Amino acid sequence: MQFSPVMASGPRIENILTCDVISIGFAKEKDGSWVLTGPTSLVANVETFFGLDLLDELAFFTPSGKAGELFEIPVSAQATKAGRIFLTCVGDKTTPDLRLAGAAIGRKVREKSIDVVSLCAKDKLEIKAHAISMVLGAYTWNQKSDAKKGKPKFFVVTNDSRNIEEAQIIAHAVCMARNLIHTPANIKNPAWMASQAQKIAREKKLTINVLAGKGLDKFGGLRAVGNSSPNPGPRFIQIGYVPKGVKKNRKHIVLVGKGITFDTGGISLKRPYDTMTAMKSDMAGAAAILSVLSALADLKPDVQVSALLMCAENALSGTSQRPSDVITHFGGTTVEVINTDAEGRLVLADGLAFADLTLNPDFLVDIATLTGAATLALGRQYGAMYTRDKALARSLVAVGERSGDRLWHMPLIDDYEDALESDIADFNHTADKGDYSAGSVTAALFLEKFVGDRRWVHLDIAGAARSESDAGESPKGGTGFGVRLLIDWITNL
Ligand code: BES
Ligand code: ZN
Ligand code: ZN
Repeated sequence: MQFSPVMASGPRIENILTCDVISIGFAKEKDGSWVLTGPTSLVANVETFFGLDLLDELAFFTPSGKAGELFEIPVSAQATKAGRIFLTCVGDKTTPDLRLAGAAIGRKVREKSIDVVSLCAKDKLEIKAHAISMVLGAYTWNQKSDAKKGKPKFFVVTNDSRNIEEAQIIAHAVCMARNLIHTPANIKNPAWMASQAQKIAREKKLTINVLAGKGLDKFGGLRAVGNSSPNPGPRFIQIGYVPKGVKKNRKHIVLVGKGITFDTGGISLKRPYDTMTAMKSDMAGAAAILSVLSALADLKPDVQVSALLMCAENALSGTSQRPSDVITHFGGTTVEVINTDAEGRLVLADGLAFADLTLNPDFLVDIATLTGAATLALGRQYGAMYTRDKALARSLVAVGERSGDRLWHMPLIDDYEDALESDIADFNHTADKGDYSAGSVTAALFLEKFVGDRRWVHLDIAGAARSESDAGESPKGGTGFGVRLLIDWITNL
């Protein structure tokens, strides 16, 4: 686990001189002049201490004003640790720009054992967002035999230690999800996911129940997908956070995550084959909700939360399911399998029906790398959100903007519903009747068949769960999308 703590330090200059690097924010004003951001008197003290006029120094670099632009100034003063000042551009001083600035600072000190204090943000939520992003920018994952072992530590100047504790917990949770996603599928099979969940549950005193083998008799979708693999078979992993004390009408949220540890497509093998190499991340939904539960155990909101990790490997073998098979989901709905590469909705259907029929959730949320079509529609910066609950959609969009995991409310288009008809089962699963395209929409319409009358939200994160480049807050690979969103939503319900 790679993790760098974000910590509070008092507002006195002596405290920040114990860091190796002091990062000071700058921004362009409307009139084209430059200003330093961050706590004003402290920034002035830094200038006095080092005998520097930082705006003068800045002019030397001819900055563009883009958030995340960073200039290094070597400083030396006896009896201090500080050897560098980073002048970091905070763009328009908005929260998203403070995130980019944080990520740039983190990226600059990756794998180095360096203490960095940032004086970029002032306001509580901005400090939190900026602090989280420093950790996210510093994140790396590799299995290189000569991997660098250094770990930066990040500090911000604040008296609100709770705010920073929360930032630390959230950053840790996103890194945890990223670690799970980056782990390759020769290590990460459904049984491995269960052992990770068990470890977290033990450490954080969460409830856990894992079903495998005969225990999955009623989970026709999970079995049909997961029994294709010669690796240990599919796992249904249920983890619970229950607040202390008895309270009437406490809300219960159930999160369902797609946990396909590798998606070959099965008999409907993925083509072209290089599209398969990203498919170790097909468990990003499950990774996100496991990490969210781990964080909730520390944040202790007064909400009951259950996470259902639907874990299976979609392999190609003699025991793979066939296109044309008919399976029976939890609760009895029958489905005709058309394309075995649309496996995500089959495992989710069992999870959603289980939640609806046995857990009585007030809110039912699923999160899944479900369709390539979601990436075509929105790219990688937004998750596709489906729900008929307009008020809930509005609040989740706002939480998305605030947390950094942005969502776009997509339509559940009833006109496409007949695509799910089947001559031999209740539904066909790839919506192959008719010619509607809109693969992310029809996948959502399929899932809706399993949620009863619940207040349900479906998050298709196929695009946002993975970054194809090392840029902004994300490394190349798993982003941990959904972790900040769900933690923010649940803790502010
Ligand atoms: N895991 C994929 C979706 C995906 C694609 C995630 C690219 C991330 C990046 C999913 O299981 C899948 O293959 N979906 C098919 C469904 C189709 C066969 C109806 C798709 O989207 O092409
Ligand atoms: Zn697939
Ligand atoms: Zn998949």
